[in-house]
Amino acid sequence: MSNESKRTRHALNRRDFLKVSSGCMAGVAGVPMLSVSSPALGATPTSAYPVMEVARLSELKPGTTIPFAYPGPSSPALLMRLPEAARDGVGKDSTIVAFSILCTHKGCPVSYKAEQGMLICPCHWSTFDPAKGGDLIIGQASSSLPRIELRIEGDKVQAVGVEGLIYGHHTNIL
Ligand code: FES
Repeated sequence: MSNESKRTRHALNRRDFLKVSSGCMAGVAGVPMLSVSSPALGATPTSAYPVMEVARLSELKPGTTIPFAYPGPSSPALLMRLPEAARDGVGKDSTIVAFSILCTHKGCPVSYKAEQGMLICPCHWSTFDPAKGGDLIIGQASSSLPRIELRIEGDKVQAVGVEGLIYGHHTNIL
């Protein structure tokens, strides 16, 4: 056999192997595949969250903050009406937002500093921007604060879900 035909046979064998192995991977039955649109591990489907009234819209003046717990008593959160429109804010001026206050670094409770317009962790100074969906601005944490999803029903501001995994939880609803 010439060197040329050996090379061709070798190339075909490799091609056949790749075809068979990729077919096997695609054909494994019963193995759940994560798709791009799958929720992150540990996240809870929105439909599983309770609907909870957090505040009266008519009583929520700009600058107001209201502590609450959601979706359960071990998950402290803060509702805020910011002075300006916020990403994912609700209400007619999009100023109402809410976040888990458990810092995503090691779980210390963050607090809102109105003069800076930021949620700041007292433990290692991670700083999160409530006007930008709780994005991490600086600090030891590696991810944004989980955002409490809100909706307005008449005069009620309701919590209806959580985007992101609350610190210390393997799933948001225990
Ligand atoms: S616990 Fe918040 S920065 Fe470390």
